Amino acid sequence: SAAPNRAARGLAFTPVAPNSEHAVTVPEGYTSKVLVRWGDPLFSDAPEFDPENQTAAGQARQFGYNNDHLDLFEIRRDEHVMVINHEYTNEEIMFPGYDPAAPTQEQVEIAWAAHGLTVVGVTGAARGRPSGELTTVVDHRLNRRLTATTEFRLSGPVVGSDYVKTAADPRGRDVLGTLNNCAGGITPWNTWLTAEENFNQYFANADAVTDPVVRERLRRYGLGGGASQRKWEAYDSRFDLGQEPNEVNRFGWIVEVDPFDPESTPRKRTALGRFKHEAANVHLGQHNHVVAYMGDDERFDYLYKFVSRDQFRRNDPEHNDTLLDNGTLYVARFTGNSPAEEIDGSGTLPSDGAFDGAGEWIPLVTSDERGATSHVEGMTGIEVLVFTRQAGDAVQATKMDRPEDVETNPLTGVLYVALTNNSNRGTGTNPGPDETNPRSTNRHGHVIELLETGNDPLALAFGWRIFLLCGDPNDPSTYFAGYDKSQVSPISCPDNVTFDPYGNLWISTDGNALGTNDGLFGVAVDGEYRGQVKQFLTVPTSAETCGPKVTETRVLVCVQHPGEASGASFENQFSHWPDGGTSVPRPSVVVAWRPDGIRIGR
Ligand code: FEO
Ligand code: CA
Ligand code: CA
Ligand code: CA
Repeated sequence: SAAPNRAARGLAFTPVAPNSEHAVTVPEGYTSKVLVRWGDPLFSDAPEFDPENQTAAGQARQFGYNNDHLDLFEIRRDEHVMVINHEYTNEEIMFPGYDPAAPTQEQVEIAWAAHGLTVVGVTGAARGRPSGELTTVVDHRLNRRLTATTEFRLSGPVVGSDYVKTAADPRGRDVLGTLNNCAGGITPWNTWLTAEENFNQYFANADAVTDPVVRERLRRYGLGGGASQRKWEAYDSRFDLGQEPNEVNRFGWIVEVDPFDPESTPRKRTALGRFKHEAANVHLGQHNHVVAYMGDDERFDYLYKFVSRDQFRRNDPEHNDTLLDNGTLYVARFTGNSPAEEIDGSGTLPSDGAFDGAGEWIPLVTSDERGATSHVEGMTGIEVLVFTRQAGDAVQATKMDRPEDVETNPLTGVLYVALTNNSNRGTGTNPGPDETNPRSTNRHGHVIELLETGNDPLALAFGWRIFLLCGDPNDPSTYFAGYDKSQVSPISCPDNVTFDPYGNLWISTDGNALGTNDGLFGVAVDGEYRGQVKQFLTVPTSAETCGPKVTETRVLVCVQHPGEASGASFENQFSHWPDGGTSVPRPSVVVAWRPDGIRIGR
């Protein structure tokens, strides 16, 4: 591996070797600790974590399960509010004696409380010497839990439409809970965007729906069959499509949360469309228009952007609260510039030396105070917002290899699109390789760079090229932006992306298909070291790395679903991380830093 002093600014560390340890590993000279774990009390009235005696009321005052996205908002010098979402639950390893065929009401209610969001104050060592260490603050004035039963409100044109009216909410506006929140982003007006992803898994009995149009809409969102995996429908009929066909349309949105107002009701922003949202990351265009880039994480699904009608105004929270309700939603269509016969699915570069080309943003729907105007033939504006995938199908958007996190490099304006994998590319009757998704049975995923025309996020055309084709660097189908492949860390299944203060890209992985643990990687995107992927951290076996946040002094990651393995149960745990002994595994937030006070990667 590369010597630490031969690296881009901010990436001077000795890479961690791939491993299969039941531990978090960080480079030499760094240390790490668990900042907060599933079940940790956020309020002094919450019970201490006791896996043998869990209650829903306790869980609602404790840190939730399966932390995914995280970010920090600074309150004052080294005091922050940290936001974390809780994507889903692993009941079989959470609960003693869990019977998946017949969960108890208490177990189901604990799972509802373990889903959702956490807002928690954290502090550094502001009075000591500079340190990356962080500590959570129990009873911080901003601490908050939001769960699968907290009140959320739909916002934008879909409010009051027939597609979102239910027996419990005939107005079609007030939704209980948020589900399956995956990644997210923060806005220049200090709010948090968190993304409802695989919401389909909570809804039962799609087979009871007889209307063929409705059935097809459900199918397109992965809804079919009878009982749900978690059987929530046994305790709340809103999860039974046979009884409440519209509840499902109230999930699959980008949610905007004000972490500075614990009394605020979060908004589900319907103008941004409904799909399996991985994340939304906002970038300001010319004259402070807001652009939100978004991926739909499914094999052969699409990349989107939303452009606001109005401009962001500093110090005008009331105005900024309307930005994501008015604007136009677009979907991406990519074209390659090499002959189709040169894209053979092997990952071999075409004769022009690059997987690259042009693209356009196709308008789908424009939202404003009067409603939603469709740009898609045969669909109303409201239908485009609620059944956005079918709008993308209608305009022949480019079918991608699972678009995950999408984020703009704040230093250059280049957008990075993580495509995690697609084992079905080119198999059977599935779409074959194209220049944008050039590998058949793409097991390790890739990363695309996209530059809007004129470096203007409002542009309707763009150029693009592939930055990384992930995998073992010894595998000839991999590509590391042309960097010497003997000098890079293996990387597989890119999921979440972020940037450090120097403009380096950091990538966390989910589902490493190289047989070792997932982790976090830094890579220079410009200059002499462009493409030098370096592994900074590994997470315990069977966990996924997500969240990532990289500042001058610390690196934060979420360690999600440790111990998730087939055959694992509460009584037969596959992992005892982080508490050791015979303990249950606990999804956790980890912070890494240098005890000597030197900045990350310097
Ligand atoms: Fe929840 Fe697309 O990862
Ligand atoms: Ca995840
Ligand atoms: Ca080309
Ligand atoms: Ca993810």
